[in-house]
Amino acid sequence: MPADPDPKPIELSVVIPTFNEVHNVAEIVKRLDSALSGISWEVIFVDDLSPDGTADAVRQLARSDQRVRLISRHNRRGLSSAVVEGGLAAASDVIAVMDGDLQHDESILPELYEKVVSGEAAIASASRFLDEDRPEGLASDQRVKISNTGIQLANRLFDLDMSDPLTGFFVMRREVLLRALPELSEIGFKVLLDIIAASRPRPKVVELPFRFRERLHGESKLDSGVLYEFLLFFIEKKISRYVPLPARFISFALINSIGILCHLAVFLFVERLFGATFAVAQLVATLAALTFNYTVNNAVTYNDRRLRGVDFYVGFVMFAVLCSVGIFANIGVATMLHHQYGELIDLAPAMAGALITVVWNYVATQAFVWGRVRYPDLVSRKSERVKS
Ligand code: GDD
Ligand code: MN
Repeated sequence: MPADPDPKPIELSVVIPTFNEVHNVAEIVKRLDSALSGISWEVIFVDDLSPDGTADAVRQLARSDQRVRLISRHNRRGLSSAVVEGGLAAASDVIAVMDGDLQHDESILPELYEKVVSGEAAIASASRFLDEDRPEGLASDQRVKISNTGIQLANRLFDLDMSDPLTGFFVMRREVLLRALPELSEIGFKVLLDIIAASRPRPKVVELPFRFRERLHGESKLDSGVLYEFLLFFIEKKISRYVPLPARFISFALINSIGILCHLAVFLFVERLFGATFAVAQLVATLAALTFNYTVNNAVTYNDRRLRGVDFYVGFVMFAVLCSVGIFANIGVATMLHHQYGELIDLAPAMAGALITVVWNYVATQAFVWGRVRYPDLVSRKSERVKS
């Protein structure tokens, strides 16, 4: 694009989080170009070092089109925080947020923009459910069900009345984001819901219908994990507020408590039904609880850093080793307290021991199991390089 000697100030900043969208970025810019004629815009792609080379593809567009910007983050993953950081970097006072996979219909952007600029609303969001047909983009009945449950929960728990509080497609004033900022979720959940829930007073929202298209390239990163993420978000908003502990810790501790029940159930099962000795039953039960704790925490508490493939098994071994240290700490502390305070009460030392274990397990596994972000080979990446 030739440099414009007297460019119109940017009116709309479009923020697009991307993870493995290499085949979609050029097309999006093309579509924004035709959808936003008459509005002066920029687009900010926020990428988390996608292994498919999305950032390279954006960089390449940015070289010849100054409306295109890239924020490339490291050490983090997450759609929500990507949107927040992109929004903070926006040049204009009005921000659009949309997905980078062409599922969001960019042709309604001017309408959303108009609602906000005219002052009719502080947020104009695009709803997948105001259209009479079932959204094409919700590929299965299961996804429809998950969405419905999520929407009902969101409305009820946060006292809203929206047809699609979980949508990732909306336009807002930058001010709305800035106001919500101090109260935004640490773990990051559906960013629109997060922003609305964090704002006092509530910003005025209007919803417009759009057709949620099918994904062409790549795959959706959201699955039934969203319901668990929702739970974590809820814990953070409603419990962490009063109990000043990180939501992740609360989640970890809750899952470990269920793990204890799991231990007991397996113990009884193996001992009673199979007539195993105490030691064998205890061993099997410990392994079962360990597997349960690891798998569920990996999927829920650390959904954003979930370990997969070989990393999953390596992580499991680390988890098991670190947790056995936790068990020794538990027994050590409990015994010490028990000796010191005699027969007073046994429950208190036992609980102190258990508490030490859960704190240790949390801190240690957060650092060593889920702490490391694994990078793709950034310099000499061969796969899916974008052709010049
Ligand atoms: N930077 C970054 N980091 N971007 C990410 C990440 C991440 O960790 N994970 C996903 N994205 C990007 C994707 O590349 C895509 O552009 C967008 O975020 C949405 O991700 P999808 O994986 O396509 O989500 P979806 O289609 O399943 O979910 C849709 O429905 C949700 C409703 O519950 C999206 O519209 C969501 O925005 C919406 O909230
Ligand atoms: Mn999508």
